[in-house]
Amino acid sequence: MKEVREVNCVVKSINEVLPGVFSISFVSGSIFTNAQPGQFVQVEVSGDAFPVTRRPITINRLTEDGFELLFDVVGRGTRTLSCVEPGEVLRVLGPLGHGWQIDKQKSWLLVGGGLGAAGFAFIQDSEESVQIVIGASSADRVVPLQNSTIITEDGSIGSKGLVTDLLTDELVKSVDSIAICGPVAMMEAVWNKIAVDQRHKVQVSSESRMGCGWGVCDGCSIPMASGGYKKCCKEGPVFLGKDIDWKRWKEAGL
Ligand SMILES: Cc1cc2nc3c(=O)[nH]c(=O)nc-3n(C[C@H](O)[C@H](O)[C@H](O)COP(=O)(O)OP(=O)(O)OC[C@H]3O[C@@H](n4cnc5c(N)ncnc54)[C@H](O)[C@@H]3O)c2cc1C
Ligand code: FES
Repeated sequence: MKEVREVNCVVKSINEVLPGVFSISFVSGSIFTNAQPGQFVQVEVSGDAFPVTRRPITINRLTEDGFELLFDVVGRGTRTLSCVEPGEVLRVLGPLGHGWQIDKQKSWLLVGGGLGAAGFAFIQDSEESVQIVIGASSADRVVPLQNSTIITEDGSIGSKGLVTDLLTDELVKSVDSIAICGPVAMMEAVWNKIAVDQRHKVQVSSESRMGCGWGVCDGCSIPMASGGYKKCCKEGPVFLGKDIDWKRWKEAGL
């Protein structure tokens, strides 16, 4: 098993970038410099007894002296994390999982649903030819990313509609790789919109409730098209779209 590294990381800054959405920057030394886009960390949000488990968050981007995360406050763990102060030290496991397969790819289309676009900054920093389309319910759920085309359900920013409205056959055919990240229902709709002969290009960043984060607890299974399951934390979180059993995944209800 790959060594799991735990690092004491110093909170450098924390800012609310959208209502209830925080960007947190850590100083971590050199340990994260080899992190790949799409990998995640498990953050110990509190030194107290509760919440017990760490919280998995995608590495948003690397910085000169560490890394940044972008997270949504949805429950007790993320609320606790949103209250940390610069200078505090948090224990972080990572980088964890398999990220996007970016070797030798020439051009990317990144398709994000709401805060699912959080990790795209890291791909944008690593690759030269990247187009981004983001769909969200409204302007206050749109991750700020340069050069992205935005569509919102209420039309409060960008055009009005769903992200699938932006996925023309022409756009899909024009790129070598497609990365999708967002809620499962959104990702399934994007997958279904992509023509069958273009689906080999698709990679998907999965999410699951997690316990350990490194393959031990069996708590993060993603159903596979070949039958059985793979672990989101260890064999993912990024999978090829064609390897996922979309029907069973959606029915699982995460
Ligand atoms: C690999 C990975 C990467 C992630 N990256 C990010 C990220 O970059 N930014 C971000 O904001 N969030 C991310 N998440 C989701 C984040 O881990 C959860 O929102 C967080 O753990 C919730 O903890 P909580 O204690 O605040 O909420 P809880 O009290 O545990 O749950 C509150 C609500 O959120 C739902 N929820 C909790 N965990 C998940 C999950 N993993 N997927 C879907 N719904 C969940 C619960 O069902 C519940 O409805 C990621 C998850 C995974 C597995
Ligand atoms: S979270 Fe424990 S095996 Fe994946």
